[in-house]
Amino acid sequence: MKKNGGNNGMKFRGTHILSADQFSRDDLKHIFHIADQIAPYAQRKKITTVLHGAILSNMFYEPSTRTRISFGCAFNLLGGYVRETATPEQSSVAKGESLYDTARVLSGYSDIIVLRHPEAGSAETFSAASRVPVINGGDGDNEHPSQALLDLYTIYKEFHKKEKNGAASIDGLRIALVGDLKYGRAVHSLCRLLALGRNIKVNLISPHHLALPQKIEDILTAAGHEVNRNHNMVSGITHVDIIYASRIQSERMLPSEANQFNTDMTDDLYRKTYHLNKAIYTQHCEPNTVIMHPLPRDSRSGLDVLDDDLNEHPNLAIFRQTDNGTIIRMCLFALIFNVVDQIDTYTYLPAWKNLRKSNV
Ligand code: NCD
Repeated sequence: MKKNGGNNGMKFRGTHILSADQFSRDDLKHIFHIADQIAPYAQRKKITTVLHGAILSNMFYEPSTRTRISFGCAFNLLGGYVRETATPEQSSVAKGESLYDTARVLSGYSDIIVLRHPEAGSAETFSAASRVPVINGGDGDNEHPSQALLDLYTIYKEFHKKEKNGAASIDGLRIALVGDLKYGRAVHSLCRLLALGRNIKVNLISPHHLALPQKIEDILTAAGHEVNRNHNMVSGITHVDIIYASRIQSERMLPSEANQFNTDMTDDLYRKTYHLNKAIYTQHCEPNTVIMHPLPRDSRSGLDVLDDDLNEHPNLAIFRQTDNGTIIRMCLFALIFNVVDQIDTYTYLPAWKNLRKSNV
């Protein structure tokens, strides 16, 4: 497996991945080049043991399905071992242990740590005490950098498939971000990566009290992008390449916002105003508009922005997105351990056949 561009090769060796701000335009190109080559390993067409003997501690102090499992699978697919905590109750934080002590202890047991934690800034605090690299798997309402990378990789792939914009550029992209833009850390990290593109149009669609924080909007405008705030979903999704829907993060709301949220629920605001279903998509969107969502969708009482009736639509990329999560997380591990060009050396063909049906 060949690295693309010598100067980036070592940049991520031994580094923490805490923010999407750490990546440059060249880094994205480099990571996505590696991602294309690592994909057959994620799909089990080839097996590598390049990280044999290395241990990942996968520490999740907030609910997670995709991020936790795909980080674990990614490490296993490179030949490493995974230990994990999936709930705070199972670990010593329930006894009042500090991030500092936990980081010092775990970094003696493992070679790399992925941390998800409800407090913004926790990944940075934890990494300062850790003796091994730390990847931020989501810190409160702040950031989720690996999600942003897999989202952007998905955007590249979707564009490439439609031969719209070439595989190595998001320049000229038109994207609508819909839902809880205030607390959605996946959206916050994605905006930081979108700032690396050129001439991007971003439509921000949310209820007033869940608008994108000004400091993140400023990152987009400082990059020269066109930013429009829409409180009406339909006008914001009509002429875009990507609709990026997101869940209302009710667990992060302040009491006053929770009251507003309950009123909106009673008034059916989300279902009436911020809800994308097949009928609305077909009537208002361009035929090539791709639908994305970091997931999970909140399937309780039709609350989520994205309806189930689009599940079989070819432009729904949400499960291609989740598949790309494993690929991107493998890339991050390979870069941090600086083993990208040794993957092939430690490769063999599996004795078993992958039984998965083709991708949707
Ligand atoms: C997101 C998260 O945890 O920030 N989920 C994920 O990691 N794919 C989005 C969410 O929880 O709504």
